Amino acid sequence: MRVCVIGTGYVGLVTGVCLAHIGHDVICVDNNEEKVKLMQAGQSPIFEPGLSELMQSSIQRGKIQFTTDLGAGVNHGEVLFIAVGTPPLPTGESDTRYVEAVARGIGSHLNGGYKVIVNKSTVPIGSGDWVRMIVLDGIAERQQTLVGAGGAIAEESLGAQFDVVSNPEFLREGSAVYDTFNPDRIVLGSNSSKAIAMMQELYTPITERQFAEDKSLPPVPVVSTDISSAEMVKYASNAFLATKISFINEVANICDRVGADVVQVAKGIGLDSRIGSKFLQAGIGWGGSCFPKDVSALIHTADDYGYEAHLLKAAVSVNQRQRLIALEKLQQVLKILKGKTVGLLGLTFKPDTDDMRDAPALDLIEHLTRLGTKVKAYDPIVSQTGLRHGLSNVLVETDPERLADGCDALVLVTDWQQFRTLDYAKMAKLMNNPVMIDGRNFLEEEILERAGFRYLGVGR
Ligand code: UDX
Repeated sequence: MRVCVIGTGYVGLVTGVCLAHIGHDVICVDNNEEKVKLMQAGQSPIFEPGLSELMQSSIQRGKIQFTTDLGAGVNHGEVLFIAVGTPPLPTGESDTRYVEAVARGIGSHLNGGYKVIVNKSTVPIGSGDWVRMIVLDGIAERQQTLVGAGGAIAEESLGAQFDVVSNPEFLREGSAVYDTFNPDRIVLGSNSSKAIAMMQELYTPITERQFAEDKSLPPVPVVSTDISSAEMVKYASNAFLATKISFINEVANICDRVGADVVQVAKGIGLDSRIGSKFLQAGIGWGGSCFPKDVSALIHTADDYGYEAHLLKAAVSVNQRQRLIALEKLQQVLKILKGKTVGLLGLTFKPDTDDMRDAPALDLIEHLTRLGTKVKAYDPIVSQTGLRHGLSNVLVETDPERLADGCDALVLVTDWQQFRTLDYAKMAKLMNNPVMIDGRNFLEEEILERAGFRYLGVGR
């Protein structure tokens, strides 16, 4: 099928590249010229395992193109994905101005054929109908312009027929390509059976698991709903997962006080199939571009409709407190932090990404700096790429041993796989005071103690 993806951020680029890989003809549109040039040259502007390889092979096979020309993309696509950002406003609401601009732009370029317009961006509940209205506005504006200019072509866009589908994504950063080919479900919200049928056709290679790791699994379930329910599925999924993590973090804090081990507790409760073992890793809290934004937006929507979302508010406040758990533990061990040096292992909000958005590390750095502590850090990606967003108070070291040198304590902030196998004995010798605060309960206490560290986890 012919596909146009508008917006080449995380979601848009991964979606476009994966749809090209499974055989569709894709045009990706972005208004950032430099980024488009980079992508035309086969370079991915984001770090995501496996993405560059798929991007380059799809370019070679002529399956994907990149352009700044929205009109060309809209003319090409039978299915038009809106995948632009909906960043949070200071109030916690989503800023939908980019979605609005794209919907209007689509309307102004729609030609005679039937198109499915897909909301892939995480948009506030009710946006499906709103997008339809904006597209219609775009069509009307164009007609007025054409009429003003002589009117001859007005009938071309009068025939524009389209339906809107909400198709939320559930991709995790760091495994977005894998998640696209191995989804737990595909959610399609629309009041048009024609649009749903086209979307099902688009996803057939994925639902039939032709690109899945385990091809013997039964087909991927497709959940077909009305638009608002599909939009709600996205928010409710992220809010549930964030709440699940806040729950285990609260249990961890109680474990700390009664002398229980939250890692064993999580195993014990996770084996109950009604609970499930995933997202029960206690630590310094959740961050990233989705959980904080989506939970706040859902709280805000509830408020708008006269309902106070107590449980979600509690999940947020537990998370805010949890981000400073490493600070509490540092104070417990080092007492006065002024003048001390603390080294952070990892900076990104989770491993296998270069994303620092709402990373717990940022809060920790801010508090430590305010207390007069010198902060150093080593992160496998940040140290290599030289990205320094919001890190002006941090000395970013190029390897873990240089990080350890002269530190009074280390804090493991991100659970990068390579941190399991560092030369901790050597690092301990380089430190003033070999203390390890394991903010992700990721390391083995015994190994660290054998290496000479005093080890403190979270809730164990
Ligand atoms: C999340 C959702 O998982 C995904 O479905 C959605 O589309 C986007 O938001 P992502 O933000 O990429 O994906 O990261 P995820 O792996 O879910 O982790 C989110 C945060 O929770 C990270 O900061 C992570 O460190 C933390 N986390 C996760 C925990 O603290 N404990 C856990 O057990 C799991």
